[in-house]
Amino acid sequence: MAKNKIVFFCKECGYESSKWLGQCPACKEWDTFVEEPVSPKTNAYKSRSYGSIGKSSRFEKREPELLSNVSIVEDTRILTGMKELDRVLGGGIVVGGLVLVGGDPGIGKSTLLLQMCKELSYSQHKVLYVSGEESLKQIKMRAERLGKFDGELLLLSETNLDVIEDTITRIKPEVVIIDSIQTMFKEEVSSAPGSVSQIRETTGTLMHLAKDLAISIFIVGHVTKEGVVAGPRVLEHMVDTVLYFEGDGTASFRILRAVKNRFGSTNEIGVFEMRGNGLAEVVNPSEYMLKGKPEGESGSVVTCLMEGTRPILVEIQALISRTNFNMPRRTAAGMDYNRVNLLMAVIEKRLGVSLADCDAYVNIAGGMRVNEPALDLALIAAILSSYRNLALDSDTIIFGEVGLAGEVRAVTLIEQRVMESAKMGYKRCILPQVNLDSMEQDKVNGMELIGLRNIREILNYM
Ligand code: TYD
Ligand code: MG
Repeated sequence: MAKNKIVFFCKECGYESSKWLGQCPACKEWDTFVEEPVSPKTNAYKSRSYGSIGKSSRFEKREPELLSNVSIVEDTRILTGMKELDRVLGGGIVVGGLVLVGGDPGIGKSTLLLQMCKELSYSQHKVLYVSGEESLKQIKMRAERLGKFDGELLLLSETNLDVIEDTITRIKPEVVIIDSIQTMFKEEVSSAPGSVSQIRETTGTLMHLAKDLAISIFIVGHVTKEGVVAGPRVLEHMVDTVLYFEGDGTASFRILRAVKNRFGSTNEIGVFEMRGNGLAEVVNPSEYMLKGKPEGESGSVVTCLMEGTRPILVEIQALISRTNFNMPRRTAAGMDYNRVNLLMAVIEKRLGVSLADCDAYVNIAGGMRVNEPALDLALIAAILSSYRNLALDSDTIIFGEVGLAGEVRAVTLIEQRVMESAKMGYKRCILPQVNLDSMEQDKVNGMELIGLRNIREILNYM
């Protein structure tokens, strides 16, 4: 038997080295090398031509094709019947596409994909769900919660990818789910499931299966604490589409986001709510986010942010109170803590408001995480509103970026934001003057638009 040797892999890019290195020579990342045994001979990388089943041989002659002779056939798409999912996929599942669904453990990846299987089998598609994490009984129990399964759904509880490959080639399903890639292994690779080389080899095999047999394959990948799919970045490079399923464990809404898509835009998101009987699509996220908003209370401001091309209204809450500590307390839920501190410093310096002896708690209601400078102005308004104990008009919406000099700067996609605000019944919009100057105002009739140049002017509206 050939002796296994030890090699080192970069977790980020998959670079291979015979000794441990502090910095990866390929991607220049530090401290990313992990040790793994590999058996000397693996054949996952033999050349294959997509579309010709099994006829792979390195002796096969291949002629290049003229670009002008290549005919384009519209991607054949399978509609899942879940509108939010279809949208994120770019208009349905592409035949022969390899999709990675990443997310924290317990966020709902298996639930989402099982629900998709339910819809697909309902519309007469042949679907195979392979689980390496759960027994058939456990899958059945989950399926019971999701309601009645009318169609035929094939289940397989297996972690050996060679067995799975054989099953897939025999029964030729249209769609396959692999849950999860971290549990799968190939016998010829000697390292443990979930290691860099196992993930690389198993994904490689799945990619060939998808292309050769024109099967759409969904791979589930768990995300590590650092927020990347466990295993090497190469996994993300190998697949056609990368979707992330995100959400706060404590809140019930979930966002499905495309971070890479060879067949569509990465600007689309899908919004879901986790319920007792599975995931429900949220058609109007703004309405969902503003549910339960207090009327006429200080420290509450509504703003509009963009998730890709989708405007969503959210409520920002601030509570400013005199501190009982030597060091005032500051917390920020749903947004960047440092950004909140920076904006409080801008308020102190530019408006002469002393916040040094105040505790400050800010929160985005509904459990949404936001990382957009367009909410700066609304956050400042919320802080000032709470500090002065004055409520803003409840039909006012505010957005704009704020610079260190206290100037109000332009935000992107202004028309969409204003139109969404109008749709949700808001009557007055406070926005950057720069945006107001360049905007087609006739698109948004019935909305009072107020342009600001400096945060000082916001004091006139509370
Ligand atoms: P799951 O899909 O198992 O997560 P993942 O595959 O990403 O690890 O989701 C598990 C969570 O979802 C679990 O905490 C229970 C919850 N859940 C519901 O609230 N309602 C449901 O109908 C189902 C099936 C799960
Ligand atoms: Mg799962």
